[in-house]
Amino acid sequence: MFGAAKALRDAGVLGLNERNANYIMRLNERRFYPRVDDKVLTKKISLAAGMAVPELYGVIDHQGDVRKFPEIVENLESFVVKPAAGSGGDGILVVTGRSTRKRDSFRLASGLLISTDEILHHLSNIVGGQYSLSGNPDKALIEYCVRFDPVFAEVSYQGVPDVRVIVYRGYPVMSMVRLPTRASDGKANLHQGAVGTGVDMGHGKTLIGVLGNEVVDEHPDTGALIAGLQIPGWEQILESSARAHEVTELGYLGVDIVIDRDLGPLILEMNARPGLNIQIANNTGLRSRLKRIDEIYNPADDPATRARIAQREFAV
Ligand SMILES: Nc1ncnc2c1ncn2[C@@H]1O[C@H](COP(=O)(O)OP(=O)(O)O)[C@@H](O)[C@H]1O
Ligand SMILES: [Mg+2]
Repeated sequence: MFGAAKALRDAGVLGLNERNANYIMRLNERRFYPRVDDKVLTKKISLAAGMAVPELYGVIDHQGDVRKFPEIVENLESFVVKPAAGSGGDGILVVTGRSTRKRDSFRLASGLLISTDEILHHLSNIVGGQYSLSGNPDKALIEYCVRFDPVFAEVSYQGVPDVRVIVYRGYPVMSMVRLPTRASDGKANLHQGAVGTGVDMGHGKTLIGVLGNEVVDEHPDTGALIAGLQIPGWEQILESSARAHEVTELGYLGVDIVIDRDLGPLILEMNARPGLNIQIANNTGLRSRLKRIDEIYNPADDPATRARIAQREFAV
């Protein structure tokens, strides 16, 4: 093994091969993947389990239905368009308003205007599978545009931050808050240029951040400090994430939650192959936390208990 890789391993950092072989392949049954790989289905099963999600305004699943878009958004000022099988923030349009002069022109999170024709074209690309992992034909969702909690106002640039929680065998083990930047155009995905910050699992407070591979302590656009922010509704976030285990039946899971200023925490989506950068943002490896859960695992623990255990075990 190369020196750098060995040093990371010794620090308890989980690598891609180990994640895939020891956790994802062992704990995530392929037949359950559609529950997280199709955002329409994720919404449906989450709602059925009593979890709050951003309201679905419409689904477009055929080229012939793309023209229904203006009707779906007729009475809406803001909404989000996204591919059901997308990932990494690709293909998502965060529409925050309409042009004051032309009602059929929309304003994106970045402030740029986009015409109805351009959105129709984009919808057609989504349905054609341009953003789906497999390249197969996809569906486009049109959903409620979350208005984020003011606690994040100083550390978000024109977009909605999200809270990612890694859930192992039903127990939350690590979390990060992702903050949109000028570069990420309204999206909180790290590879779109968002900042990731670690989270103290005990109290739900943000720690230092990473931008790319650099450690940062201020937001690159607003200059505000990113550590020490209290995530609102932290216990509820942990409990909902824990419950996502029952909802998906996946043993290794990333849950993305957004906090609406009026509606509270909402489940945005879930991932069966969550990224490993969360370890950099937390300056901590996942391996020892996963091992700890293996030691204390108790199938009788309900989601609320598992959330409390996460707080107790992984407080910083
Ligand atoms: N309904 C929404 N309201 C506001 N922002 C959203 C909404 N849906 C997605 N976003 C933004 O886009 C990002 C990526 O969305 P997500 O549904 O997690 O898709 P992906 O699978 O591409 O990561 C979110 O982290 C958030 O910043
Ligand atoms: Mg996501």
